[in-house]
Amino acid sequence: MYRPTIALITLGLLTVAPSAGADEPQGDPAELAKREYEQVMALTPDIDNGRRVYLTCAVCHRPEGWGTPDGAYPQIAGQWREVIIKQLADIRARHRDNPLMYPFSLTRILGGPQNMADVAAYVAALPMTAGNGVGPGVDLELGARLYAEHCADCHGERGEGKPATPTPAIAAQHFPYLMRQFEAIRDGRRKNANPEMVKQIAEFTPRDQAAVLDYTSRLRPAPEKLAAENRLNPDFPNYVRETLGMPPLPPPPPVVPPMPVPPPLPAAPAPSSVAE
Ligand code: HEC
Ligand code: HEC
Repeated sequence: MYRPTIALITLGLLTVAPSAGADEPQGDPAELAKREYEQVMALTPDIDNGRRVYLTCAVCHRPEGWGTPDGAYPQIAGQWREVIIKQLADIRARHRDNPLMYPFSLTRILGGPQNMADVAAYVAALPMTAGNGVGPGVDLELGARLYAEHCADCHGERGEGKPATPTPAIAAQHFPYLMRQFEAIRDGRRKNANPEMVKQIAEFTPRDQAAVLDYTSRLRPAPEKLAAENRLNPDFPNYVRETLGMPPLPPPPPVVPPMPVPPPLPAAPAPSSVAE
């Protein structure tokens, strides 16, 4: 459906990333974001339009919404609509710093509240991957204990989050992304952090942090939220996945089999045996 344009748009987005300008929001970020959140939540989403808007997002979050296991881009598929809208409103009002994504959150690219409502509904309905990046797996008992004690009340027993608050689902999120957010929240760099959470994690040692987030990354979403393994989002059939519009790389050279080792030479006959 979008076939001819996708590669071009991909390239275009990467090369002419808009810089902040006239439609930058003015005013107190927290207030602006809260007002927009309420406005967007009151709208009825149109998933078809959401799919069109998602074309922009797919460049970074991938067509499936699974992000990348190295955590550079989070998995957003299956996240609560409420959480997605709050993050979009926060990012666009600069209530959450996200320099990479910020330009794409502006009205000029993302559109107004209706587009925000639509794309959030589209993303929320995407099935999730369980092939996310996980931690080293060495300290999971400690992780489970810490999770039950310090996280489950808000994020849910299975890391499923809570739309009403709105608290993000964190199950099956990429481990390096969880580590980065945890540190930003603890150190006060993530402006939209929940102050109660900041208190809960203040005393965490580096070992506690790695253990609880490793455990979190291994929590599995409900089966009905999961995608079939290796699913490719059928809404983006011709998406150029790894090469960003460049021709595919040539295959690697064939592996040359090692030279056969020649058998050892027969031992020189002992001088006595050649006598006569
Ligand atoms: C240029 C790349 C880029 C584009 C385009 C982009 N994002 Fe992002 N997005 C990011 C990065 C990077 C992060 C994580 C930032 C961080 O580490 O704090 C992120 C974070 C998010 C989050 C927060 C996730 C969470 O768990 O808190 C949401 C929601 C999101 N993006 C949705 C979208 C949507 C919807 C679009 C399209 C309208 C979009 N993004 C376009 C790069 C991008
Ligand atoms: C008092 C409730 C509360 C507690 C306790 C809590 N959190 Fe959170 N957490 C939140 C809320 C709410 C957010 C989202 C804030 C926002 O951006 O709007 C959040 C955000 C996060 C994020 C960022 C998610 C994302 O998608 O970007 C991570 C990671 C996280 N929490 C992990 C944890 C872990 C691990 C624990 C336990 C050690 C924990 N939280 C305890 C409420 C809580």
